[in-house]
Amino acid sequence: MSALKKIDPKSNAYTFVFDEKILDDIRSAYHSHILPHLESPEDASLFEDGESRVGEIGANDQSYFYTSYGKEPLIWVANNNWHTYELFKNVFEALDIRDEVKQLVDFENDITLYSGFLVVGNRANIEAWHLDFVEGANAYTLITPLFELDAGHGNLLYKDTRDDTQTYLYKLGEAIIVGDNFSHATEPYAKTEKPRILLSLTFGTDKIVYWDALKQTIAGQSMFLILPCGHQRGSCQCLESTA
Ligand SMILES: [Fe+2]
Ligand SMILES: [Zn+2]
Repeated sequence: MSALKKIDPKSNAYTFVFDEKILDDIRSAYHSHILPHLESPEDASLFEDGESRVGEIGANDQSYFYTSYGKEPLIWVANNNWHTYELFKNVFEALDIRDEVKQLVDFENDITLYSGFLVVGNRANIEAWHLDFVEGANAYTLITPLFELDAGHGNLLYKDTRDDTQTYLYKLGEAIIVGDNFSHATEPYAKTEKPRILLSLTFGTDKIVYWDALKQTIAGQSMFLILPCGHQRGSCQCLESTA
């Protein structure tokens, strides 16, 4: 059983420790199926500043979808079918935080994992302050390093109760979950030799009534997405009840 610790008395963000061996399957998937693609010459430009690009990596049980952002050279590699969703789901189950998340969100029966990602970057030029969710989304983003960070990698900047900027240091075997009203940014860092690889999960309420708030964050993050109802987006009629 994990124990969520509030990062600051008034911040909607919590940390907890876990056995980092839980990440081994995703680490091997990264080494075998994602890294070779990111290193191939035709895809090296994904790390360059410029236009945002999207595409697919792999197929079948190793299908991922990437989005690279123009201004911030950051690549989001998302689950792209049930196989790769399961890879992230296994991590979510092993982290064993469902019961504690149930204290934080309004839900009917259970907490739903919407999507899983690897966030790959090798620099951050600016402080891009943002909120992950609009108020009342009843959802969280989890972030944890997949591998030990290099000394030169950026950590997480956030605003504390007094609106002062604080730095949360990413640690292997520790995760942070952030919800609505939590203002944060990647700490700017100069280009590094080794990329910084973070694991990210989005999860929260199973009530479809929160879709309007949720979709502002999660609808555009991946092609393959599990809706609060637990069904793959596009495969059910549950959203119609919210229209
Ligand atoms: Fe964020
Ligand atoms: Zn549904």
